[in-house]
Amino acid sequence: MTHPPRPPIARLRALRSVELLTPHFAEATDFYEEVWGLEVVEAEHSASWLRGTGEEHHALQLTRADRIGLGRLAFAVATPAEIDEAARRLQARGITPVTGPGPLDQVGGGYGLRFHDIDGRLIELSAETWAVAARGRDAAVPVGVTHAVLNTPDIDASVAFYRDVLGMRVSDWSEHQMAFLRCNTDHHCIAFNQAPWVSLNHVAYEMSSVDHFMRGLGRLRHHGITPQWGPGRHGPGNNTFSYFTDPTGLVCEYTSEVAQVVEDTWICKVWRRTPELSDVWGTAGPPSKLIRAHMAGTPDGSPVAWPLDAEGVPA
Ligand SMILES: [Fe+2]
Repeated sequence: MTHPPRPPIARLRALRSVELLTPHFAEATDFYEEVWGLEVVEAEHSASWLRGTGEEHHALQLTRADRIGLGRLAFAVATPAEIDEAARRLQARGITPVTGPGPLDQVGGGYGLRFHDIDGRLIELSAETWAVAARGRDAAVPVGVTHAVLNTPDIDASVAFYRDVLGMRVSDWSEHQMAFLRCNTDHHCIAFNQAPWVSLNHVAYEMSSVDHFMRGLGRLRHHGITPQWGPGRHGPGNNTFSYFTDPTGLVCEYTSEVAQVVEDTWICKVWRRTPELSDVWGTAGPPSKLIRAHMAGTPDGSPVAWPLDAEGVPA
C-alpha cells in the first residue's frame, strides 16, 4: 500500500533573519553597523540585533559565542495557526520542535517554533513578529537578508528535506554541486553547496537595485574595503554579487536583481559550471583561494575557528 505524499509542514513566506555566532562579537557588531550599513535596533552583552531598511524587526542577530558559524535561520510564516499546524506535521514526521510552538521569548517577539534540519541546523518558523516601519530606500544599504548558502555533505538529502518538509521548490541546479531553492518569487532564498562538512557558506543582503548595489560597493571602498570576489552577475538566479569577509571570517554578500520566478512556467535547469556562467559580466574573474576558504568555513560545532595562515586562509 502506498501512502499519499505528506504535505510540507508550512508555507514559508520569506527568509526573515539569520543568527550568526561569533567570538568577535564587538568587532562584528561594529562592522555590520558602521561598514555594512545595517542599524543596531537592540543590543546587550551577548547579542545584538540589526535591521535593514525593510520591515523586519531585524535581519541579523549576532550572538557572542566561542565558536563561529550559523546560529539559526528564521523563516516567516503567515499566522500562529500555521505554526501550530507545522508543529503537528513535524511531530507526524518524527521531528520534535526544540522550542514551541508558542510565543518566542526573544527580541523581536513573535509566535513560532524551532527545530533541527537534517544537518542539525536550527530552523525557526515565526509569525506576528514585531513590525517596524520600512525606511526610505535612497541609501545604498541593505534592505534585509535575501538568501543563505549552506554547505552540506549530502546535497540530495538536504534538498529533499527542504523540498518535502519545508515546501521549498528547486529553481535550478549548478551541476550536482549547488541547488537553488525558493519559497517565494525570488529565485532562491536558500542554496545548498555540496561540501565536506556542514557549515555556512555565506549570507546575502539585498540591495534595492543594481545602482544601490554599486553605490554600496563605493561606500565600502571609502572604508578601505574592496570585494574579495566581485562585482559580477551570476548565471543561475541572474543576481549581481560581491563577496566580503566579516570580522568573524564569515562571508557576506551584497546582491541585487535576483530573478523572479513565475510559478508553473518556470523550468528548473541544470547549469554547467563554467567561468562564463558563474560570472556572466566577466568582471569578477575566478574566486580567490581566500574567499573559497572562507566560504568552506569551519564545520558547524567546531569549538574555535581554525588557525589561519598569514593570508587568512585556514591552515
Ligand atoms: Fe549568494
